[in-house]
Amino acid sequence: MKTIGVLTSGGDAPGMNAAIRAVVRAGCESGFRVMGIRRGYNGLMYGDMYEMNLRSVSNIINRGGTILYSARSPEFKTEEGMQKAIAVCKEVDMVGIVVIGGDGSFRGARDLSLRGIPCVGVPGTIDNDIACCDYTIGYDTAMNTVMEMVDRLRDTSESHDRCSVVEVMGRRAGYIALNSGIACGATTILIPEVPFDFERDVIERMRRTQKTGKRHFIIIVAEGVGGVQEMSDRIQRETGVESRATVLGHVQRGGSPTVRDRVAGSQMGYRAVELLKSGTGNRVVAMQKDAIVDYDIFEALNMEKSIDLDLYRLAHEISI
Ligand code: ADP
Ligand code: F6P
Repeated sequence: MKTIGVLTSGGDAPGMNAAIRAVVRAGCESGFRVMGIRRGYNGLMYGDMYEMNLRSVSNIINRGGTILYSARSPEFKTEEGMQKAIAVCKEVDMVGIVVIGGDGSFRGARDLSLRGIPCVGVPGTIDNDIACCDYTIGYDTAMNTVMEMVDRLRDTSESHDRCSVVEVMGRRAGYIALNSGIACGATTILIPEVPFDFERDVIERMRRTQKTGKRHFIIIVAEGVGGVQEMSDRIQRETGVESRATVLGHVQRGGSPTVRDRVAGSQMGYRAVELLKSGTGNRVVAMQKDAIVDYDIFEALNMEKSIDLDLYRLAHEISI
């Protein structure tokens, strides 16, 4: 019986469990022995893994987080760490590993592939910032969480005629901010991909809408832009509107996955096993225009993705 492994790595994302479930179920049904590797590459380096069966993944499709746990593993990036992982793979005769995570995790998968361990990446990150994918597991759930939280902030901002300046996740990417900002009716959305002028894009815009009778405001700021407390203080000082800053933080990473994330996780996990079954490694599974596709892992890591500037313009045109 051939052995494959599955691990989750980097920031967790709702829907990772659906992907694990699909890998384990499809893997077992395809005749593989499936090893669940705990805590990402840490578990791989230290052999922290267990054999999974069809029932190991019962009752997890609805759960946030990852039953395999996740980690960031600086040691794995060293040649010594990599050699430890390869020795473990050889010991259990691993013929393939499904790596569920973001592009950092895919770089690890690429390095393993280069050293003869076939890997297939499955995109799991709330940030939706993987170049070869239109969609990554966890993104929809995170945006819905943001929407729900900001709707609550809107209630209290409206009651007090206040401004809410809200930081949402996305260290290098503004996808969560842009789309949830539109869904929440934000007055302004600030993202790392688009340069902005605070005076023009926030203060002047607020003043203009104040003249039309607007009395409460929501400003959505991506984590990669940061500085929400300073922004809030400046807004209060310059517009006279009382302002509060909120950092939503890790609530965005938890919670029961939405339909979209459960389905996407299931589809992508399934495709990863199909690839390994046909003897194909060194691939990244992706979603493009709602279809499941796959790319060479090197090609995938060299691709670039850009924010939808038309959507960014639209957001601001209709939020005055
Ligand atoms: P994500 O997968 O969400 O982007 P990270 O960037 O933190 O998260 O990466 C997760 C893990 O993948 C890292 O802790 C490290 O073990 C591994 N990794 C990241 N970058 C590389 C790299 N350039 N080479 C090898 N392994 C890497
Ligand atoms: O990549 C997902 C993400 O949630 C980013 O949006 C955020 O910048 C980062 O992870 C936070 O990482 P940590 O869990 O290490 O605080």
